Parts: sequence; structure tokens; C-alpha cells
Amino acid sequence: MKNYKWQLMSNNILPKDKKVLTQFIKKSHKFTNGPKVIEFEKKWSKWLGVKYSTFVNSGASANLISINILKNLNSKKKEIILPAFTWSSDVVSVINAGFKPIFVDIRFENLALNEDLVKKKINKNTLAIFITHAMGFPGLTPSFIKFLKKKKIYLIEDACESHGAKVGNKKVGSLGDISNFSFYYGHHMTTIEGGMISTNSKEFDRLAKMKRGHGLLRDSQDTSFIKKNIKKSKDLNNDFIFYTEGFNLRSTELSAVIGIEQLKRLSKNIKIRNLNHKFFLNNLRGDIFFKNFNLKGSSNYGLHIILKKKNSVLFKKILKLLDKMQIEYRLGSLGNQIRQPYLKKFKKITYLKYLKNTEHMHFYSAYIGNHQALEKEKIIKLCNNLNKI
Ligand SMILES: Cc1ncc(COP(=O)(O)O)c(C=O)c1O
Repeated sequence: MKNYKWQLMSNNILPKDKKVLTQFIKKSHKFTNGPKVIEFEKKWSKWLGVKYSTFVNSGASANLISINILKNLNSKKKEIILPAFTWSSDVVSVINAGFKPIFVDIRFENLALNEDLVKKKINKNTLAIFITHAMGFPGLTPSFIKFLKKKKIYLIEDACESHGAKVGNKKVGSLGDISNFSFYYGHHMTTIEGGMISTNSKEFDRLAKMKRGHGLLRDSQDTSFIKKNIKKSKDLNNDFIFYTEGFNLRSTELSAVIGIEQLKRLSKNIKIRNLNHKFFLNNLRGDIFFKNFNLKGSSNYGLHIILKKKNSVLFKKILKLLDKMQIEYRLGSLGNQIRQPYLKKFKKITYLKYLKNTEHMHFYSAYIGNHQALEKEKIIKLCNNLNKI
């Protein structure tokens, strides 16, 4: 493993987290999904501004369950529009549930789906838009949310790397029908591994909780719903009614304990991240690097180095500089998923041609870590070196 001076993430688990975890382990005897998970879900819902949340073992699991819930609608509509500039689990969950992914390009200003292009792709088979709020930018506008409601198209939000980003005064993840978050170590807050599914729909919440726990009726946590369905299943053991297609994607009390502690400082950390981001952009040359992000409501995840113009020689020099300065980076940011081997059959010339901005991000961008403990001197030194390149 390389020895970095500036990692994608560091110090995301503090001594305070370790202390509450140790105290919990000392006094408790049951560590599987239980009261601490419920407490974390309630506190998360309150922070986010939604009615219900379901804690799972990863953001990918949150993606998987959310799209699987759409299967329960038994709709004839089979198309889901999503960006190719996203994480693999978004695409995999769509394909896995038997839906057809329709890939649309992004806008540079917020690295999210281009709403005008999405509108052109909407047809009678469009079931849902699966937006990725990428890199801490809010990826939706109020008019587009209204437009989708009017068209009765479901809105699923992947906010796995955008905790706390806002549209107006509402947080992303509270704007659509179902939303997903990741609490992987590198994100705005962590439960080591973990994820959350949030919604305002009682029906979707029941399904999320059942699908998390093998599809079991008793995991719906809805007493009247359980009673009603037990009556309908006289040939089955009440405790083992597998009501819906399910998985086991539960987390543990230990992760929930860390989550509850981390949530206390999330909003404060977001403010620090945003200050770092602004400082980075202010010190970077605008003639070489893309800086015209729409920062309104953003909750920065990583600092982006995006070339304004295609230039492979210059980009290689930048990567060499990052290596020399021992700065960890992710090439292409999320990249163009269609170029990945698992999506070979989608890699048609037409798709690549229509994904111009995604392609640009794939070849001429990288992001580096932004976190609450990042020193200003490091940012200045890097910007000075980048500007001289
Ligand atoms: C946009 C997005 N969706 C989903 C995921 C998956 O989250 P996890 O790593 O917790 O499974 C990630 C991971 O970083 C992500 O960035």
C-alpha cells in the first residue's frame, strides 16, 4: 500500500466514537439489528426531514433494496433513467431487478443528470428516474421535481456521497420517493460500512424493512399490516412468512452506535468541507481547470481537478504531480460506467457519443480527499503547483 501524505479520507473515526462503542459493548449482550438500529433510524429521519428510514449494511444494499421495491409495483413500465456517471451498484440494482437502464449525460455545474436531456428520453415506458447526487452537489431543481410528480414518474435519489446537500431548504434524499445513503468510511459520516434507505411512504418503508430481513413479514414493523397478512396465510408459521422477495442486508447495533455518535457532528463537518472546497476553488486557475460549479446547497465530498479542455499530455503531468506530492486520487471520479467490463453489451458507439460530459470526466478528471481535518497549507501548496503546471 502506498504511503500518502493526503489521503482520500483520514480520521473519520474519532476517540469519542471508540469510547461510546466500547461502553456499549461492555454493558450490552445483544448486538444484532435491534433498539440502537431503530434509534439511529429515527435520528437519521429527523436530521434528513423524512418520516421513515431503514439502516442497512452498505450504500450498495440501499440501492439494491430501493430498486427492488419498484418491482413490487408490478408496473408495465420497465425503463429507469440514470446517469452513466455513477457507482456500479446503481446500475447493477437496475439490471438485477429486470429493468432497462437508460443512460443520460450529466451537467458539469453539478455533475448530475442533465434534466433537459432526461425529458427527451422520457416515454410511456419510463418508470423512474434514479438520480445520483454526485460528489456532494444537489442534482435536482424544484421545477424538475414538480415535472416528475406531474408525469407520475418515480424519483429515486442516490445521495450516497452527498449527505446534507440541499435544494432550497430541503436536504437531498428527502425530495423523491425513496433515497439512499452510504456510511462507508470515506463518506461525510461513517458507520465503518453501512447505508440508509429513507422515504415518506409507509408502504415503501414496510417493503424496505422486509427486504432487508429475508423478505419476512414480521420485519415490516407494522403491527396491523402483520396481523392482516397472518390471517391470509393460515398454512404458514406466523414467524416465517416470506412476504416479499428479500435479502439479508441487515447491519448491527455496533454500527448504529457509531452512526448515532457521528450524526451529532455531521452538520458541523459539512460546513468545514464546504469552506475547504471554496478555498480550493478560489486558489485554482480558472483558465486551465473547470471551476464553474453551482455551489448553492452543495455539501462537498471531494476536491475536483477537471481539465477545461481535453489534453492528455497535461493531464498525465497533473497525475505525476499528485503522485510526487503523495496525494491519493481517484481517476475519472465516478467515471463512465458504460466503459466497465460488466456493461460490455451497453458500450455502443451511440451511447458514448451521447455522453460527452461523462466521457470528459472519465478521461480528464480526478478527485482528491476533502475532509474536516484537512489543513489549508496543504490546499495552497497543491493549488500553487497545479497552477504552475
Ligand atoms: C453514488 C454512490 N452510490 C452507491 C455507493 C455504494 O455505497 P457503499 O460503498 O456503502 O456500498 C457509493 C459508494 O461510494 C456511491 O458513491
